[in-house]
Amino acid sequence: MKILIVDDSKFNIEQAKKAFEENKINCEIEACTSGSNALKIVDSEEIDIIMLDIIMPNMTGLEVLAHLRSNPKYRDIIIIMFTSLTDKEYLRKSFELGANEFINKPIEAIEFTARLKAAIKLKSNQLALKDAFRMLEAKNNSLKSTTLKLKEMQFQLIQKEKLSAIGELAAGVAHEINNPLGYISSNHETLGKFLKSLKTILVEYRDLIDNIAKSSHNEELTNDINKIKENESLLNIDFILEDIDDLMNDSRDGIQKVSKIVKSLRNFARTDNEDEYNYYNVNDIIDETLLVIKNEWKYSITIEKIYGDSPDIYCNRGQIEQVILNLIINSIQAIKEYNKDQKGNITIKTTCDDNYTYTSIEDNGPGIKKDLLNKIFNPFFTTKDVGKGTGLGLSISHDIIVNKHKGELDVKTEVGKGTIFTIKLPLTKINDAIEEN
Ligand SMILES: Nc1ncnc2c1ncn2[C@@H]1O[C@H](COP(=O)(O)OP(=O)(O)OP(=O)(O)O)[C@@H](O)[C@H]1O
Ligand SMILES: [Mg+2]
Repeated sequence: MKILIVDDSKFNIEQAKKAFEENKINCEIEACTSGSNALKIVDSEEIDIIMLDIIMPNMTGLEVLAHLRSNPKYRDIIIIMFTSLTDKEYLRKSFELGANEFINKPIEAIEFTARLKAAIKLKSNQLALKDAFRMLEAKNNSLKSTTLKLKEMQFQLIQKEKLSAIGELAAGVAHEINNPLGYISSNHETLGKFLKSLKTILVEYRDLIDNIAKSSHNEELTNDINKIKENESLLNIDFILEDIDDLMNDSRDGIQKVSKIVKSLRNFARTDNEDEYNYYNVNDIIDETLLVIKNEWKYSITIEKIYGDSPDIYCNRGQIEQVILNLIINSIQAIKEYNKDQKGNITIKTTCDDNYTYTSIEDNGPGIKKDLLNKIFNPFFTTKDVGKGTGLGLSISHDIIVNKHKGELDVKTEVGKGTIFTIKLPLTKINDAIEEN
């Protein structure tokens, strides 16, 4: 405990020090003879109790007291006014200004000991209370962060479960479709060849009939030929012969599209394997992701792809897919919310240099306000309605890119113009980085 005695009379200071000694009050004692010096000491040292003379030249004890009490930093210092019996009016003022106690001059042993011990006790209790409060605060903070971590873990678990359930479902559906799709595709090819042959032979038959009709004078034969021609016209054979190639081509495109979707579903189905790192191409991952969520954007958003020759990167495909999905869905949701009546635009661009690939996803949505920008990567931060957003998309994406793949996830945004997120993933040495991890 540190006590500062402030009195312009050195005699009074000596008296006070003597009283401390005689009454065995064990404290560290410091003294000064002016108010301004007292303020300097309080500023540079940790003082617990001040014994403050009221009447002093230049700066009175009351002025020192008022100055200290006006600063919250010194709110907890116990201040005991040092007063002679004639200072009664000043004493009243002292209490108004926030003094805690007073001791009369000349010092009287019993009063001095009693009041000082009470002040020391008050200060000790105050310190103990502060410690307890600090401890409580620390415990509260750690409890808060544990709760947050638990919530996040719980979400991740649910998300993982959900993803793996969707994965299983997707894999099942993909498998079931894949079989019939196999024979539809091969039958379609054979059918194409058969139709070509039939078309060739049919043209030859028609030529033959035309020749016979021209050269034959047999009435019965001519009637039969006319009947066949009528039927041809009824059955729209000319139109069929013209349209058959288009039909076959359209069907082939359709079959190819379904095959692509099945392939994407199968790739999505194996997203939950955390340890599965391999070489994958970012452009392929984007194409597949866009296909899986096509329904979300095809009517209201134009997606422009500007692909560079991105080499393969060593990554966990499922996780990178999840990041790209989160970013594109965020852009789609932002655009839909903002440009309700206009068509939105998303530009997805991939480039690379010697060490990194860069994938940027740019939208012409509302942009992100400056005061929200430093919160968007926080878990559970969302501006979306309850049930629409959990606020975890970006925090999970950040974790995947920065911690799991040693890359970077940056955002640039302008309110009213749009947002661009850029994923930077290392090309080389990532193996070491991941293995070290
Ligand atoms: N492209 C964007 N344009 C405008 N705001 C965005 C964009 N991307 C993210 N944000 C803002 O960042 C917030 C956090 O995004 P995040 O993906 O983490 O959560 P969410 O989309 O709200 O919910 P979740 O992804 O869990 O469904 C969003 O609520 C939104 O306010
Ligand atoms: Mg999101």
